[in-house]
Amino acid sequence: MANVTITNHPLIQHKLAILRNKHTPSNEFRALVGEIAMLMCYEATRDLTLESVEVETPIATAKFNMLKGKKLAFVPILRAGLGMVDGVLTLVPSARVGHIGLYRDPKTLNPVEYYCKLPTDISEREVIVLDPMLATGGSAIDAITQIKKRNPKSIKFMGIIAAPEGIKALTEAHPDVDIFCAALDEKLNDHGYIVPGLGDAGDRIFGTK
Ligand code: PRP
Ligand code: URA
Repeated sequence: MANVTITNHPLIQHKLAILRNKHTPSNEFRALVGEIAMLMCYEATRDLTLESVEVETPIATAKFNMLKGKKLAFVPILRAGLGMVDGVLTLVPSARVGHIGLYRDPKTLNPVEYYCKLPTDISEREVIVLDPMLATGGSAIDAITQIKKRNPKSIKFMGIIAAPEGIKALTEAHPDVDIFCAALDEKLNDHGYIVPGLGDAGDRIFGTK
């Protein structure tokens, strides 16, 4: 069964409270999404495999741990997942980045796919899917289904706010995918928005409302 980790470090909680505020402007919102993603990435990468490597310091030669093999691929779900990319690349600059374009049909709330470009060597990498909002879970489930067709080594999902409905749907559809979120909110409203949430993440990142 999937592990669900709520990364509720005090710095993340503080930044998330500012993010939720409807008066926070787009430029600040974008910066906060990046900072929260960077802090969460630290936790989501805790189990990366290390190997012992010989290093010559100015004083002596000794063995130290470094990351083993090809590293990560981050896959943001467009649009809102894009806001998390710079933050995670700050921690793992050598990672590859794939993109999956999905939007929720406003009536059915079902995801509609319009773009998919993944790294060619994704089968040799561990994948972290990025999307700030896990609402019904439909977008994350669909994106992960697409990625699984390319046989990556493993897949994790990293969001910022999740609804209980989204966690349930994602863990049922993909029990092998570990989930990292900064907050688990109360519920979805009748329009599929997370309550209390932060509103429409894509619109707030890109100032399109
Ligand atoms: C938002 C969000 C997720 C999706 C979550 O994207 O960024 O991708 O909704 O909802 P779900 O869990 O019910 O699928 P949206 O469809 O608004 O597209 P956008 O990022 O382009 O604004
Ligand atoms: N997508 C968003 O951007 N916000 C929500 O609350 C739900 C889906």
